[in-house]
Amino acid sequence: MVKVAVLASGSGSNFEKIVLGEENYKVELLIVDREKAYALERGKNLGVQGIYVNPKSFSSKGKYEEKIIELLEEREIEWIFLAGYMRIISKTLLEKYPERIVNIHPSYLPKFPGKRAIEDAYENKVSETGVTIHYVDEGVDTGKIIAQEKIKIDSGWTLDNLQEEVHRVEHRLYPQIIKKLVEENKK
Ligand code: GRF
Repeated sequence: MVKVAVLASGSGSNFEKIVLGEENYKVELLIVDREKAYALERGKNLGVQGIYVNPKSFSSKGKYEEKIIELLEEREIEWIFLAGYMRIISKTLLEKYPERIVNIHPSYLPKFPGKRAIEDAYENKVSETGVTIHYVDEGVDTGKIIAQEKIKIDSGWTLDNLQEEVHRVEHRLYPQIIKKLVEENKK
């Protein structure tokens, strides 16, 4: 079984779906950068170890990521999946896990990068948006794209409707793509 970790900052609904979708991979560890991240509660209910690593207790981002690397190496983690993790990953972690750190973004990249992707699509009144799964690099939502799915926006939708639809697609797509990545990259 390929061991994976999830990094999250918030609610953790994608984290939960990744755990529930386990087949050829196992989520060994959840790391959060916020003490109150609801993802930790979900981890408890799912029986996944959750660890809060406080970025402020380290003198630099490099040192913070070294702590994360230590936790990952202790558990022989092979893949890192970001699921609502609100920090840029730096060289320290990227160089340890080349093409092994993946993110999900709630838009059809390169359109609407950044933290307000769903709101931006909605406010721009575009007729479609989507979901993107991509490798992580040092930029904001700029890494090589692995998979994308489009979502047509109905002109009668509220922002809530759009958010629900985006999450519905994310929750189906992320575990599916993780299975595929793990399968294709078996040692
Ligand atoms: C998702 O929309 C994801 O695409 C974005 O942050 C959100 C996280 O939601 N990066 P959750 O914490 O998984 O519920």
